Amino acid sequence: MIRAIFIIASVMLATAAQGSEGYAIPLQHVSVDLSDKAALYRGALTFQAQCATCHTAKYMRYGRVASDLHLSDDQAKALLPPKLKLGDEMVNFMPADYAKQVFGVEPPDLSLVARVRGADWLYTYLTSFYTDPTKRWGVNNAVFPDVNMPDVFAAEQGVQQPVYADVKMPDGSTEKRLSGLKPPVIPGSLPPEEFNSMVKDLVSYMVYMSEPAKMQRMDYGPYVLGFILFFTILMFLLKKEYWRDIKQPES
Ligand code: HEC
Repeated sequence: MIRAIFIIASVMLATAAQGSEGYAIPLQHVSVDLSDKAALYRGALTFQAQCATCHTAKYMRYGRVASDLHLSDDQAKALLPPKLKLGDEMVNFMPADYAKQVFGVEPPDLSLVARVRGADWLYTYLTSFYTDPTKRWGVNNAVFPDVNMPDVFAAEQGVQQPVYADVKMPDGSTEKRLSGLKPPVIPGSLPPEEFNSMVKDLVSYMVYMSEPAKMQRMDYGPYVLGFILFFTILMFLLKKEYWRDIKQPES
């Protein structure tokens, strides 16, 4: 038994170490509250405005978002690109070969990305672009080195500056490696707290999108607990009723 616990603990430690290993900066924790529907809606609006031109979310439909987030007709319409209907999947109109030509890779579908990468990685990714003139778009990313995505939040966040450190290689040579990020020289249009909170809402929306049924399960939760409580009281009363006329034998 002790051996089993030891093995499980060491596997867990190894996986945790792997998670933080290899990134130039530590992943930042973001706490996602799926019951905050206003935040999810703000995230959905940002997603449509900033991400949907390049990325699809084809396992999701606009109507599903509208009903899960209890949106009014006007709120739902604000999410819809021209010519699309609520029943449509979240596709976009960028031809795949054009995207390949411009970006070198096709921007991946983002419906399930939160399940693959996790909220902390997504949050850190979206907030850790930095200036790097050697790259195609003039930027690089601290947790996705040599990324082919432009810094879509450059205007809101400003472009962060890299801090490099000399790292000794096994063959004795030294190499410059990213070791941290400095605030932008020219500040973005949003104060940092506002920018971070916008990205947090966006990540929350992506977490919701990657498993929409979770929200329904959470909605059912109080009813299920209420039913169990009601049933317990009912059974207790029933038990009392059954035992009312039964005399306990004298001991
Ligand atoms: C101008 C086009 C463009 C826009 C706009 C854009 N992206 Fe990207 N994105 C890309 C490309 C291209 C890649 C592929 C990068 C690579 O593989 O090097 C990518 C990759 C990603 C990845 C990494 C996926 C993975 O696991 O490999 C995530 C996450 C992502 N984008 C999220 C977003 C979000 C969120 C937004 C909106 C705020 C956004 N993107 C806006 C082009 C774009």
